Amino acid sequence: PAANLVDPFGRAVTYLRVSVTDRCDFRCTYCMAEDMTFLPRKDLLTLEEIDRLSSAFIQRGVRKLRLTGGEPLVRRNVMSLIQSLSRHLGNGLDELTLTTNGSQLHRFADQLAEHGMKRINVSLDTLDAAKFRFLTRWGDYHQVMRGLDRAVRAGLKIKINAVALRDVNEDEIEELLRWAHGRGFDLTLIETMPLGEIGTDRTDQYLPLSLVRTRLSQHFTLDDIPDSTGGPARYVRVRETGGRLGFITPMTHNFCESCNRVRVTCTGTLYMCLGQEDAADLRTPMRVSDTDDLLHAAIDEAIARKPQGHDFAIDRNAAPAVSRHMSATGG
Ligand code: GTP
Ligand code: 5AD
Ligand code: SF4
Repeated sequence: PAANLVDPFGRAVTYLRVSVTDRCDFRCTYCMAEDMTFLPRKDLLTLEEIDRLSSAFIQRGVRKLRLTGGEPLVRRNVMSLIQSLSRHLGNGLDELTLTTNGSQLHRFADQLAEHGMKRINVSLDTLDAAKFRFLTRWGDYHQVMRGLDRAVRAGLKIKINAVALRDVNEDEIEELLRWAHGRGFDLTLIETMPLGEIGTDRTDQYLPLSLVRTRLSQHFTLDDIPDSTGGPARYVRVRETGGRLGFITPMTHNFCESCNRVRVTCTGTLYMCLGQEDAADLRTPMRVSDTDDLLHAAIDEAIARKPQGHDFAIDRNAAPAVSRHMSATGG
């Protein structure tokens, strides 16, 4: 068996994020332009190829696998992929999970739990139905709420992801926190990142989380706690609510030093860093050979050039640091 993956900076790659589709049924204003061109279906990896690719990474030491999108639950038959991948749980893989916008959770929550998922991340930036529609361009807030209810009943632990946006949900962060913790959900706040053209300048909506944290500290006692998810967030326990609050701060506090992850798109392109353009094609080595030797060689070559970190900046009038959208790699 081939060796575990370690990059040139000594960081072990133990977390794989797999985007199963670049499509999404929402168009969040900070994520996508209204008019998006999606990849032709013929370019997609088959579900079998996604399974093969993921399994190769698990052989190489990946212990946490997260399905993303776009919206992962809009990929046809994604449940069969999840069921198949669940064979690795307890068998190399510690965690199989997903990040979803929640729109299809009312349909799939039970099956996710049946296939071994314990915990999922749901993106939700506002508790105001009208604002939700505006932010997602046409999403149905009540449908997401129904999905969350189903997920709770299915026994899934939930983390809410909210992108903090100046003048958009800035005034709602405290309410989001009380609501999430009141329901037993973790809440993670995210700084907007310059990925892909969205038709507007991100500068106006950029809200540094260092500022949010200072503001929250006036009402809540935030006790630092160690990370337990192996993700990019830094966590605090909020004494007044008893809940967990995470901060994902690529802009105000770079966390690249402890990066443990890579991501692969739905066409089999591996990105070694969310904030860099360099990528490696893993689809060709899979398609030219039925054995995984070429695939493992391509993975090794890619990991050997994993960059030290991103160089994101929010600069007015500057092009986004990275031209692809978050939806290409699912973060
Ligand atoms: P946990 O397992 O709960 O820790 O999840 P996670 O934070 O790893 O995953 P999730 O899909 O919920 O991602 C939350 C946010 O973190 C998204 O906006 C991602 O784009 C962002 N994120 C994940 N990995 C990276 C990374 O390597 N660099 C940066 N800058 N952002 C990341
Ligand atoms: N910057 C920060 N977060 C983003 N997301 C989508 N686009 C961006 C962006 N440009 C968030 C979504 C979801 C997570 C996977 O990434 O809201 O919670
Ligand atoms: Fe879709 Fe998520 Fe992007 Fe919103 S943030 S458009 S839900 S991929």
